[in-house]
Amino acid sequence: MEREKKLYLKTFGCQMNDADSSKIKNLLGSMNVSSTSNPKEADIILLNTCSIRWKAEHKVYSELGRFKNIKKTRPHVIIGVGGCVAQQEGEEMFKKVPHLDLVFGTSNVNRLPEMIKKVERERCHVEETEFFDRPEPLVYPAPEEDGMRAYVNVIRGCDNFCTYCIVPYVRGREASRPAEEIIEEVKILVEQGVKEITLLGQNVNSYGRDLSDGIDFPKLLRQVAGVGGVVRLRFTTSHPKDLSDELIAVFGELPNLCSHLHLPVQSGSDKVLSFMRRDYTAKGYLDKVEKLRKMRSDIALTTDLIVGFPGEEDDDFKKTLELMNEVQYDAAFSFKYSVRPGTAAAKMKDSVTEEEKKERLKILQDLQMEHGNIKNGQEVGKVHPVLVEGESKKGDGMFMGRTSGNKVVNFKGSEEIKSMIVPVKIINSSANALFGEYQLIH
Ligand code: 5AD
Ligand code: SF4
Repeated sequence: MEREKKLYLKTFGCQMNDADSSKIKNLLGSMNVSSTSNPKEADIILLNTCSIRWKAEHKVYSELGRFKNIKKTRPHVIIGVGGCVAQQEGEEMFKKVPHLDLVFGTSNVNRLPEMIKKVERERCHVEETEFFDRPEPLVYPAPEEDGMRAYVNVIRGCDNFCTYCIVPYVRGREASRPAEEIIEEVKILVEQGVKEITLLGQNVNSYGRDLSDGIDFPKLLRQVAGVGGVVRLRFTTSHPKDLSDELIAVFGELPNLCSHLHLPVQSGSDKVLSFMRRDYTAKGYLDKVEKLRKMRSDIALTTDLIVGFPGEEDDDFKKTLELMNEVQYDAAFSFKYSVRPGTAAAKMKDSVTEEEKKERLKILQDLQMEHGNIKNGQEVGKVHPVLVEGESKKGDGMFMGRTSGNKVVNFKGSEEIKSMIVPVKIINSSANALFGEYQLIH
C-alpha cells in the first residue's frame, strides 16, 4: 500500500473558502492523505486563496515565497493554489511562482485528486480553471474540524456585479444546487454528529432563480430546518435588495433558525450606493431592519462596510455613520475601498486619498466598538443556550461557544460538554465577546 501523505492546507478569505477547504480535506482523505499544520513535513501544500481586496491577494504571493526553500530541499513536494486568486490568474501564476505545480479554479475542487495524480506522474504544471454551468454535482459532506458544525453550499457565483466586486469574475454566474442534493448532504452531516448547518452562497436570496421547479430560498430553509437533528440553522450572505418579506417571515416560523443575520450595507449614502450598483436606498435598508426586528426582537445584525469608495465625500461618509447609529450593529466588518482589476469601479476615479480612507475607517471602527459594547452589554444577566465548540485558543482552560446570535462566549467548562448546547449565564462583556458562567443542570 502507498505510504500515507501529509497535506498542509491554508485557507484565506471567506466561509465559501472554508467550506471548500473542508471538502478538499475530505476528498484527499480518501487518497490516504492526512492533515498537518507544519508545511515542512507536508507532501502536498495547498493554498485556498482570496482576491476580494488587494491585500488578500498580495498575502498569497508572500506566502508562496515561503515555500521556495521547501521545494528546493524536498522536490517531491507538490505545491498548489486554488480559490479566487487561482481563478483570476490561471497559468500566469506559474510565471510569477516557478516552484508552483498546480493551479485549480473555484469550480474545479472535485478534480483535485486527478490533478495531483497527474503532477505525481508527469511532474508537469497542471492548471484547470474553467467554469462549469452547474456547480459540481458531487456530494462530499464534510463537517468543520470541530465536527459539530458544517457549511453547505447552496448556490455558487454571483450575478449582481456590484461595481467594486471581483466575485462575479472569479466565481462565475449564479448556479443553484438542486434542493434534493442539499437535503441529502444535510442528512449525511447530521448522521455524522453535526448540529449546526450554515447554508452558503454569495447571495443566498437568489437561490432557485435558475432552477425550474419553483423552489426559492425561504422554501429551501423550511426543508432544511425540517431535517431531524438540525439543531441550529444559519445562512450567509444575503443581499439587502433580495431580502424578501417571505424570508423575513421565516424568522418568525422556524425556531431552529438562529437569531442572526449578516446583511452587508456597504454605505449609508444613496449616492454611493448607486455608484456601487447596490439597488437599494438607506431608507429601504432601514425598513427591512425594522421588519426583521419586529419578527425576531433578539435578532443580532452584522454587516460589511466600505469606506472611501470613488466619489464618497465627507457628507456621504456621515450618512454611513448615521445609518450605523440607527441600526446599532452587533458587529461589522469594515474595509478601505481597494481597486480590483476588471471591475466597473476600476474605471472610476479613486477620488478619496489613502489618508482620508484611513481616517474614515478609524472613525467608523471606533463607532462600531461603542455599538459592540452597548449591544453585548445588553446580554449581561441573560442566560443563553451556547453550542460549545471546545477549549478556547488561549489555552487558559476556558471554553468557548456561540449563542444563537453568533456571539462568542468564554466560560469555565469541561471536556464533557463539548459539542453540547448548554445554558450559560452572561456575567460580563466586551465589544467583541461575552463572558459567562455555565449553569449546571441538576
Ligand atoms: N474593496 C473593499 N472592500 C471590498 N469588499 C468587496 N470588494 C471590495 C473592494 N474592492 C468587501 C465588501 C463585501 C466584503 C466581503 O468585502 O464589504 O461585502
Ligand atoms: Fe460581490 Fe455584490 Fe455579488 Fe456580494 S452581491 S458577491 S458584493 S457582486
